[in-house]
Amino acid sequence: MPKSIEGKIVLITGCSSGFGLHTAAHLASRGCKVIATMRNLEKQNALLNEVQRRGGTVEVLQLDVTDKTTVKEAITHIAAKYGYVDVLVNNAGCGLGGFFEDLTDSEIRQNMETNFFGVQNVTREIIPLMRQRKKGKIINISSVSGFSTSPAFGAYNASKWALEAFSESLRYELKLFGIDVLLIEPGVYRTKIFYENAHYAHNFDNPESPYYPVSQYLKKKMTEHVEDCHKDIEEIPLLIEKLIRAANPSFRNIPDIESKMLYILRRILPFSIYSWIIHKTLFSGYRP
Ligand SMILES: NC(=O)c1ccc[n+]([C@@H]2O[C@H](COP(=O)([O-])OP(=O)(O)OC[C@H]3O[C@@H](n4cnc5c(N)ncnc54)[C@H](OP(=O)(O)O)[C@@H]3O)[C@@H](O)[C@H]2O)c1
Repeated sequence: MPKSIEGKIVLITGCSSGFGLHTAAHLASRGCKVIATMRNLEKQNALLNEVQRRGGTVEVLQLDVTDKTTVKEAITHIAAKYGYVDVLVNNAGCGLGGFFEDLTDSEIRQNMETNFFGVQNVTREIIPLMRQRKKGKIINISSVSGFSTSPAFGAYNASKWALEAFSESLRYELKLFGIDVLLIEPGVYRTKIFYENAHYAHNFDNPESPYYPVSQYLKKKMTEHVEDCHKDIEEIPLLIEKLIRAANPSFRNIPDIESKMLYILRRILPFSIYSWIIHKTLFSGYRP
């Protein structure tokens, strides 16, 4: 029998748009006490409108995952008000497109600061609130990019691979204290990460770059793929609800069929064949 989730205290990062916004609104409508955090409170209206539409309530707090002061302030407030957290959803993240030589060191570090160290900053503060009760779930939003790489996404891939390794190791550590660490590895869903929130390398659009023709080719291909993508973003909040309800959820959770297939192929094929398929899929139409 699935467990009830009504009244569960759920902290989510990156709730100004996309998966975070939809998950916050969905769980609020299911009766969870949702603490929806975002780095810029001026963006909260989109979330509040969605919550009003679906029913329920959320508490919105400012939290920039790369700024330890805002992390501490938000979690100190939560500890004082509720004393504990049932579920942490580490959702905040950002993309970064560009070939390695076109990327600056600081662009790569900034991506890592958000997607990897940002998760650690929040997790470090939340663990004590779960450890004392010997229960809790930490759900990390990784990506298909956390197990399958592609050219021009190496920095993002590295941040999500690092998140995967961290999550796997932390799972062993926190199991001893009754805390579950889980991963969600979505494929492409049409969110702002590909539009307003897209980040590209400093030299991505520089015609002097030796990578310029191939960068532009891949950007066009990616844009077409995203435009063509009609997956329902609600699959993510529904999966998160399922994981919160489950007594023994799986560690890896892949919501979409494309990514499930990639995961299976990656596991069963020798890398030479797998990478040949990826190369053919990406570059069959490329004429330098
Ligand atoms: N959409 C996909 O296809 C896809 C696939 C696999 C994995 N993911 C992962 O899913 C997560 C959510 O992405 P999304 O697709 O929903 O994209 P999105 O709409 O761009 O949402 C990203 C969220 O993260 C927030 N954020 C970025 N940097 C932050 C920081 N330093 N502190 C706090 N919040 C920060 C953004 O806030 P601002 O509004 O302030 O920028 C925004 O709320 C990310 O971890 C992403 O890597 C997405």
